[in-house]
Amino acid sequence: DWTPGHVVEELVTTIREQVGEDRVLCALSGGVDSSVAAALVQKAVGDQLTCVFVDHGLLREGEAEQVEKDFVEATGVDLVVVDARERFLDALAGVTDPEAKRKIIGEQFIRVFEQAARDVVHDRGDEEHPVKWLVQGTLYPDVVESGGGEGAANIKSHHNVGGLPDDLQFSLIEPLRSLFKDEVRQVGLELGVPEVIVWRQPFPGPGLGIRIIGAVDAERLAILRRADAIAREELTKAGLDRDIWQCPVVLLADVRSVGVQGDGRTYGHPVVLRPVASEDAMTADWARVPYDVLATISTRITNEVEEVNRVVLDVTSKPPGTIEWE
Ligand code: XMP
Repeated sequence: DWTPGHVVEELVTTIREQVGEDRVLCALSGGVDSSVAAALVQKAVGDQLTCVFVDHGLLREGEAEQVEKDFVEATGVDLVVVDARERFLDALAGVTDPEAKRKIIGEQFIRVFEQAARDVVHDRGDEEHPVKWLVQGTLYPDVVESGGGEGAANIKSHHNVGGLPDDLQFSLIEPLRSLFKDEVRQVGLELGVPEVIVWRQPFPGPGLGIRIIGAVDAERLAILRRADAIAREELTKAGLDRDIWQCPVVLLADVRSVGVQGDGRTYGHPVVLRPVASEDAMTADWARVPYDVLATISTRITNEVEEVNRVVLDVTSKPPGTIEWE
């Protein structure tokens, strides 16, 4: 019968057989899937695995630290952190179009990862044990969605991944490809992956870059990061994390409205709360977060984040709205 312990045992055996003595690379995003996949491969082949974490500066408060400190402490993975914050900000400067932002972030990510991968191949690989494998946190629903199903491993393996160039040929290891999200979480807990990571809600690859409506810069990121941290903290405190699929907080950076605080007039930015309930993110309903929780979030954000003077609630389902605003 299904227990996380059995699953871990089985997957560890399979990974060991697959990998042999070769070296393995994993792009860590800080999300549940790549973290659990990395922890599993680490358990299977230990130091043969090197994880690469690209800090693009678009993460939420505490997330980089959770990967750099807590995850490494809990799993003992060999981690390379690439601080690419400035590079991403430079590339994004002045860009407002959502698709353009996504494209820039995706391209920069591949370039930075590619260079890091070359460095790892150079530093860690040797001729007898080359870096041959790339870990991907693909889940069963991803497999089904891409039309794979049983046996799809053959289609995907020995492929370039996400536009990596020809001279970086890896084969894919996808240890989670038979699991659903809730099973991945159980496996993660079994492996000792920190709970903050195991229970993390979905977060888009382009991160806060697509939650600032308008151009992205360091100051706007700092504003959004603080507002987002407050919303997350209060939703967690209210015990709503597992009822809510995710709750994007969106900064309307080019919008200002008049407000009043203390004796003074303010002219600040609104943030949007976008709590949604969903099974699979394909469709979603806006989540009925209790009014008192919304009130606390609103009060705290407008008190603690000086540049924000209004908090609004998105009450749109998907469709017609998407979950993210960009
Ligand atoms: P939308 O906005 O399309 O989002 O309703 C559906 C789900 O996907 C997440 N999302 C992304 N995840 N890279 C990701 O890894 C992306 O570019 C991306 N865009 C949206 C979103 O957070 C939601 O869970």
